[in-house]
Amino acid sequence: MLGQLLHASGIDSIIVERKDRAYVLARIRAGVLEQGTVDLLDSVGVAARLHRESLIHDGLEIAFGGVRHRIDLKAATGKTVTVYGQTEVTRDLVDARDALGLASIFEAEDVSLHDLQTDRPKVRFKRHGVGQEIDCDFIAGCDGFHGVSRASVPATAISIFEREYPFGWLGILADTPPVSDELIYTNHPRGFALCSMRSPTRSRYYLQCTLDDHVENWPDERFWEELKRRLEDEAAARLVTGPSIEKSIAPLRSFVAEPMRFGRLFLAGDAAHIVPPTGAKGLNLAASDVHYLNEALREFYADKSAAALESYSQRALSRIWRAERFSWWMTSVLHRFPGTDAFSQRIQDAELDYLISSRAAVTALAENYVGLPY
Ligand code: PHB
Repeated sequence: MLGQLLHASGIDSIIVERKDRAYVLARIRAGVLEQGTVDLLDSVGVAARLHRESLIHDGLEIAFGGVRHRIDLKAATGKTVTVYGQTEVTRDLVDARDALGLASIFEAEDVSLHDLQTDRPKVRFKRHGVGQEIDCDFIAGCDGFHGVSRASVPATAISIFEREYPFGWLGILADTPPVSDELIYTNHPRGFALCSMRSPTRSRYYLQCTLDDHVENWPDERFWEELKRRLEDEAAARLVTGPSIEKSIAPLRSFVAEPMRFGRLFLAGDAAHIVPPTGAKGLNLAASDVHYLNEALREFYADKSAAALESYSQRALSRIWRAERFSWWMTSVLHRFPGTDAFSQRIQDAELDYLISSRAAVTALAENYVGLPY
């Protein structure tokens, strides 16, 4: 996304990626886009297929105590969300970059960053065993939580804020019609469940699982049986099962690294922050980060001013922390925490009751879910 935005700003970039193209294009990630993310894709002309194939959702459902409650996002905020897989977004962006003939280097090994506190930082790596060096003005660290960028910042120059949750999500993708037209987030005594989708014929489902669980413990039959137990009766009866085409377990965590800048290295997306997936904010936060970063770089080159680069971290973190709060809150109210005492359980029940009975609470959920303004 940043590559396309920079190109539109007349700024050259080279993308350096550790994995091969096939791996990048096949990864299954989240699937809910805020309008701001769709607008960014539109602004660089990469949303044609999205507009043909995506699903617009006006609402979502929250289920607990065996009852589903609809949250009307559109009535509460005037806005909708767009269901379109991150995998598809990646494909559209890679295709657009290829069509423009812009430089992308896949399978870069042993990537390292140098001279970050000078105005000529460098990226070194090996490709098919041959060493190479890129001499640049800036490095955008968009390489995810496990990437080399954040790891290249001295520990004394960065503060970490972190929360680990005592559970993970077991996800499956299946070529079966989704159980409902809208997403269903369920809080059940056996644990959280989420019914999502990628298209009218492809479903994405998740179950809260323990951190030490393994996909091998979850043959398809067991997954479907457990999902049915957690769903409210009518949805359970309608659930269409079938062979899974992907199955994975991801731990849930909240994480923020501050500041998002070290000299001429600027961090964006998961390289700087992680949200638990409960609010579907990960990809959307990465999109707002690169929007701010593109604006700052454009100002640097066009107006010869570093002011926006100086304020990039603060500007991005203000939106990030609000999304961190929302994702933490959605995670807290929808999951079952091991060892919860009776008082805490009653508080969670009351929180959910309040959520569906108060217009103010519905609006607060909805305005965060559809995405806070940039
Ligand atoms: C997904 O479709 O993968 C998905 C949807 C909503 C979430 C998380 C993941 O909150």
